[in-house]
Amino acid sequence: MAFCPAARPLGSSCRAPLIDTGEVLLKPATRLAGLSYGLRGALPQLADDLEQRGRSIIRLHLGDPGAHRIPAPPVVLDAIQRCLHDSCSYSPTQGLPAARTAIASYYQDSGLALTPADILLGNGVSELVLLALQALLNPGDEVLVPTPGYPLWPAAIHLAGGTPIPYRCDEQAGWQPDPDHLTSQISPRTVALVANTPHNPTGAIWGAAVLRVLANIARRHRLVLMSDEIYAHIVYDTKHTILATLAPDLPCVTFNGLSKTCCIPGFRSAWMAVSGPRTTTRAYTQAVTQLASLRLCPNVPAQHAITPALHHIHNIETSLTGPAGPLRQRHDAAWEALSGIPGLSCVRPQGAFYLFPRIPYGVDDRSDHDNTVAHELLHDYGVLISPGSDFHHGRNDHIRLCTLADPFQLKEAMTRIASYFAAVT
Ligand SMILES: Cc1ncc(COP(=O)(O)O)c(C=O)c1O
Repeated sequence: MAFCPAARPLGSSCRAPLIDTGEVLLKPATRLAGLSYGLRGALPQLADDLEQRGRSIIRLHLGDPGAHRIPAPPVVLDAIQRCLHDSCSYSPTQGLPAARTAIASYYQDSGLALTPADILLGNGVSELVLLALQALLNPGDEVLVPTPGYPLWPAAIHLAGGTPIPYRCDEQAGWQPDPDHLTSQISPRTVALVANTPHNPTGAIWGAAVLRVLANIARRHRLVLMSDEIYAHIVYDTKHTILATLAPDLPCVTFNGLSKTCCIPGFRSAWMAVSGPRTTTRAYTQAVTQLASLRLCPNVPAQHAITPALHHIHNIETSLTGPAGPLRQRHDAAWEALSGIPGLSCVRPQGAFYLFPRIPYGVDDRSDHDNTVAHELLHDYGVLISPGSDFHHGRNDHIRLCTLADPFQLKEAMTRIASYFAAVT
């Protein structure tokens, strides 16, 4: 192969167009092509640049309670502080036995017969989703994912060699999943069905009735259930149903953690719980544990937070989402302010801390309308939100706003958003 030798006298040139320069290229793997996670992409970077140039930016794009100074429960922080001296060594791969026992009994309280051996701890649900899918999927396997939906799931499926297949959540039905559309997306290659309740980005709580329908579909088509329930304790005036409790006869992997419930996403504390008849789940549990052993163990101090968090879960939930709780107050205020903006319409979310309003089209209906709106809102009005297409919402006519900012900032943001839409529509 022709190449341009590296050791050439200065000033001489390599004239011939060569096939290979001899340089070693640091090339990304082809399977990363098309991988996107807009929530940490170009818009937040532009926000940083604008801020560095002295602009005031209100950030309503990330669901990070810590970033908005929502305090973590003292009982949880105290536990982490107290354990620091005893946290210097690796823990078992699956996580500390005490934490796994607390998680098993948390599910037992809801009627699910889990033991500590069914639980695997991780550095956030994000890490566990990557592990869980790598342990499950073979090339070409298809996995049904809600759309709009949290972008981690399709990305992780893709990375594990599978194909994410979207099923619709229906705005007209309060963003509940559409079982007919879901069924129409099943093929002989479908192996799993992902649920997410409370749902990001819409804040919908999927009721027990629709979850039963999803479980029946999974039963009929022999699909594994994967249920992302990270917002299980961020609910307003309604109840969260743990999907696995409706399908104890099916293999189901439930994901949850402390990032949202305890406002400590920085500690990376989460778990996955494998339920269903052990004869059907044993091989998978062993395989995913084997895979997890490659990362040795999750962050140890964060594991110590789990037992006190689950012992006090009802108080923690009430202090965040009860009538005087900061999450409820901000959520209600944001929803009311948004509802007053002409041209926007929003299904009232019953959980999580997001609003997912439909936005009006302007004079020209561009295919990247939501991206244009997000960009203009940031650049011209100093408000950072996320376009609906970051959640694979194909219609380009929704945006997602996070409701965690303090009331003063939220009010100012809504004023700016109202001015923007008044100017463009
Ligand atoms: C639906 C959903 N799942 C998972 C995660 C990731 O959570 P963790 O901080 O535990 O990685 C998020 C974070 O926003 C989320 O919204």
